[in-house]
Amino acid sequence: MVDCKLPLRSFIMLIITLTEFTSLVSTEVYVVIVEGDPVVHYYRFSATSAPSGKKRNVSNNFVAAHVAYLTRKQDFLLESTFAKRNYKKLYSYHHLINGFAVDITPEQADVLVKRSQVLHMEKDTRLTTMTTHTPEYLGLPTGCWAELEGGLHNAGEGTVIGLVDTGVDPRHPSFSDQVPNSYKPPISYSGKCEVTSDFPEGSCNNKLVGARHFAAAAISAGEFNASINFASPLDENGHGSHTASTAAGNNGVPVVLGGFNYGNASGMAPRAHIAEYKALYRNIGGFFADVVAALEQAVIDGVDIISLSLGPTSTPRGTTYLQLLDVAMLSVIKAGIFVTQAAGNSGPYPKTILSYSPWIVSVAASTHDRTYPNFIFLGDKQKFPGNGITPGTDGEGMYNLILASDGRMRNLSNLDVDDCQDPDHFDIAMVEGKIMICTYSFRFSLGISNIGGLISTAHTLKAAGVVFLISSEMTERQRFIPVAVEFPAITIPSVNDSLAILKYYYTSRERSATGVMIGTGAQAKILGGQQANFSSIPPQVTTFSSRGPDVDSSDMNVADLLKPNIMAPGHLIWAAWSSIGESTSDGLKAQNFAMISGTSMATPHIAGIAALVKQKYPDFSPAAIASAMATTAFVVDSSGKPLLAQHPSNNVTEELGTATPFDFGAGAVNATAALDPGLIFDAGYEDYITFLCSIPGLSNSTIFLATRSKCVPGTNHLPSDLNTPSLTIANLTGSRVAVRTVTNVASKGEIYTASVTEPTNVSIKVEPEVLSIEGGEAKPIALTLTATRSSAIASFGSLLLRGNEGHMVRIPIAVLLKKPVP
Ligand SMILES: *[C@@H]1O[C@H](CO)[C@@H](O)[C@H](O)[C@H]1NC(C)=O
Ligand SMILES: *[C@@H]1O[C@H](CO)[C@@H](O)[C@H](O)[C@H]1NC(C)=O
Ligand SMILES: *[C@@H]1O[C@H](CO)[C@@H](O)[C@H](O)[C@H]1NC(C)=O
Ligand SMILES: *[C@@H]1O[C@H](CO)[C@@H](O)[C@H](O)[C@H]1NC(C)=O
Ligand SMILES: *[C@@H]1O[C@H](CO)[C@@H](O)[C@H](O)[C@H]1NC(C)=O
Ligand SMILES: *[C@@H]1O[C@H](CO)[C@@H](O)[C@H](O)[C@H]1NC(C)=O
Ligand SMILES: *[C@@H]1O[C@H](CO)[C@@H](O)[C@H](O)[C@H]1NC(C)=O
Ligand SMILES: *[C@@H]1O[C@H](CO)[C@@H](O)[C@H](O)[C@H]1NC(C)=O
Ligand SMILES: *[C@@H]1O[C@H](CO)[C@@H](O)[C@H](O)[C@H]1NC(C)=O
Ligand SMILES: *[C@@H]1O[C@H](CO)[C@@H](O)[C@H](O)[C@H]1NC(C)=O
Ligand SMILES: *[C@@H]1O[C@H](CO)[C@@H](O)[C@H](O)[C@H]1NC(C)=O
Repeated sequence: MVDCKLPLRSFIMLIITLTEFTSLVSTEVYVVIVEGDPVVHYYRFSATSAPSGKKRNVSNNFVAAHVAYLTRKQDFLLESTFAKRNYKKLYSYHHLINGFAVDITPEQADVLVKRSQVLHMEKDTRLTTMTTHTPEYLGLPTGCWAELEGGLHNAGEGTVIGLVDTGVDPRHPSFSDQVPNSYKPPISYSGKCEVTSDFPEGSCNNKLVGARHFAAAAISAGEFNASINFASPLDENGHGSHTASTAAGNNGVPVVLGGFNYGNASGMAPRAHIAEYKALYRNIGGFFADVVAALEQAVIDGVDIISLSLGPTSTPRGTTYLQLLDVAMLSVIKAGIFVTQAAGNSGPYPKTILSYSPWIVSVAASTHDRTYPNFIFLGDKQKFPGNGITPGTDGEGMYNLILASDGRMRNLSNLDVDDCQDPDHFDIAMVEGKIMICTYSFRFSLGISNIGGLISTAHTLKAAGVVFLISSEMTERQRFIPVAVEFPAITIPSVNDSLAILKYYYTSRERSATGVMIGTGAQAKILGGQQANFSSIPPQVTTFSSRGPDVDSSDMNVADLLKPNIMAPGHLIWAAWSSIGESTSDGLKAQNFAMISGTSMATPHIAGIAALVKQKYPDFSPAAIASAMATTAFVVDSSGKPLLAQHPSNNVTEELGTATPFDFGAGAVNATAALDPGLIFDAGYEDYITFLCSIPGLSNSTIFLATRSKCVPGTNHLPSDLNTPSLTIANLTGSRVAVRTVTNVASKGEIYTASVTEPTNVSIKVEPEVLSIEGGEAKPIALTLTATRSSAIASFGSLLLRGNEGHMVRIPIAVLLKKPVP
């Protein structure tokens, strides 16, 4: 944990300071953990948490009395520390952690941290949504929601997915309960909907069953701007509606933009209920103090699944697993609730993962197979592809081309107008009826120029269309986010000859040898790119998706734990947007649907599939749900070729390489297969404590402070012994035995045959090689890994258990350092 004991200061000085300057000194929000068990660790709630089991009802009379007691003690601590009561307590936490968020001066913090009841105290930290800001070509490779016509209709019935996000647009058809087969209220969910003027009575229904907002920390930080941030569950951004509809939006909602119907949208678990806990805000992101309050409420309300498309902005200090967010999530697991979190968007470099702990399913983002091909034809019959989810130019005719600088007002001859942002810069007589050629420059990546400005300029000037050239100065990270545009447009990437061909075609027809404009001979038409093409390209790991290996501390030590865990579509995902939401950073007006990218988008896919697994197996623990998805994920395409990952490149072209478990964990999720996993690798709260206790250098007292749980003396575990559906060994010296326990969740017995793919320079022995296991039975499998040659290069393998009833259970194996014992 972060040590935040502050330097000593004179108590008397402090009193004077407070008396004299209270109104002048700036305050900050601190999250304070104090002595006493939060509800999940309270003995009358549960002594231990069974490895498998249902979510727990965290409310009863004993618990209510305990909560009141903890609150009184917290208040007494504050009152006895600050006699003048010149502090502001923002939240009292008692379910996941025992403590509070308080707004005080640094001097007050100095005093509070010295009170013996204070176990841990830290300044509130910022969290962020995991939507990518890595721009991409307009419509370049793929787009859609994978679940389109996915055949999983009516799925998720009865489960409640809780999302901590930017709120929800309750008027969106994805969240309506006015559907043919009406929704029943969920059993064992007790959440409420806040009612405010912008989130009126009736906003919630039997689909959207809960909606709250948590903003005290954002407000105290002075970042809340009432003209754009709403103190209500209403989605002011769009991100929250997007993630909620991806997880559980209604099935069969038409995606119509600018009059064009792109198809029907559906969530992964279209019949699940949605509960929104808003703790992220437009232009702010969020604060831990608000997010943990949201998590507590979700647990109290009784959600089944929690989806977090958020995370820290960088690797936290200290032990990653014991940062407050991860500790709070461990408590969520103890309450029997599945949690999934975005892996982060800091890829493609190693150790960029921003979701760390074994109790969380960390989700990587993949592309998928829908493309929107667009073409441009030139007057000389050349045709080449470009990108742009837009209509084509009107009719079959050709239109004259005009380079932006050639259509500029004569009195502005020195102005660079290539980004086409201001209609007043152009002579309408020159541009009207023509296709404008504009350039995507660094000004777009800086946000000075945007697609909205470009399209509205072209529209005002009555241009027939826009050709948008990607300036060759733009690197991979500066490309822009694709958007569906209602105006004929196409982007031409600089990577291709097409850019040079187009420039030459234009210049040779429009200019004399001295560069003077001479003619109007350059013509073109844009075909349009609104029709999707399913190319059946297998999913690739996106460039931006954060990569493993996992790290257990800010020292960036590699952990014996696989991260990310699984991959789901997160690139160019269509889903609901809030009608009052933000433009998607492209300057276009918010619409009902938006196509955006990020591990934020991948995560609710996993939340939705988890709801389907939970619906089928109500008694599955969070780890069992995670295992079902992991062991059935796919790592090869339909022809047996390994899936690929987009690798770092200075080039505009993505470089592709074989994806490894550090790119996509167990692989790409397969919802159908996850519903019939055969075997699972289960684990529960006590196993996670054993895991923490096995981490070298992490003291038992630190673990106790964070989790209120004791290490069991005499146990001699290694982190790699945790029963995960994966095996990662960071430093293999000689041999190591790792035992996994599989549980047969199929209705009958099955005989499994084990086979391994050995990582390079490692040999693996499996025992037993043939495993006969009854329905409901649990049995161990031992893997003995031996380093055969020294190497500091990571290598990967797998264990495959093939059942005689058709189940295929696969776990990835990763080994980094290898050193044989001579
Ligand atoms: C938990 O139980 C209490 C009383 O026993 C009940 O009022 C509440 O609705 C239950 N909560 C959930 C989420 O089922
Ligand atoms: C609040 O947002 C409005 C609208 O974007 C903006 O004009 C204003 O400057 C913002 N106020 C502050 C204090 O940032
Ligand atoms: C889209 O959903 C509507 C119902 O909202 C349905 O009538 C229509 O057939 C669906 N279209 C497709 C292509 O599935
Ligand atoms: C350029 O000329 C146009 C009209 O021809 C005029 O409206 C505009 O103000 C002029 N701009 C400048 C900077 O002189
Ligand atoms: C580049 O041009 C070639 C040939 O015209 C085409 O096959 C390819 O798809 C283009 N690449 C991109 C990224 O547009
Ligand atoms: C659609 O994709 C297929 C490959 O899956 C390709 O053969 C075809 O040319 C594509 N169509 C267009 C219009 O790009
Ligand atoms: C870009 O990639 C291509 C193909 O891999 C390669 O030939 C070219 O040299 C690269 N250019 C740069 C600047 O790295
Ligand atoms: C997904 O799982 C189903 C059922 O096991 C299987 O038929 C299908 O081929 C799998 N899909 C992929 C892409 O591996
Ligand atoms: C810490 O816990 C381990 C069990 O994980 C135990 O073996 C060891 O003795 C404990 N150390 C101390 C100092 O209590
Ligand atoms: C790997 O393990 C060996 C033997 O336990 C140890 O000497 C070495 O320092 C370790 N290397 C790293 C990088 O942890
Ligand atoms: C395997 O070992 C050889 C010899 O030590 C080494 O050159 C090679 O890089 C190693 N490969 C991997 C993937 O460990």
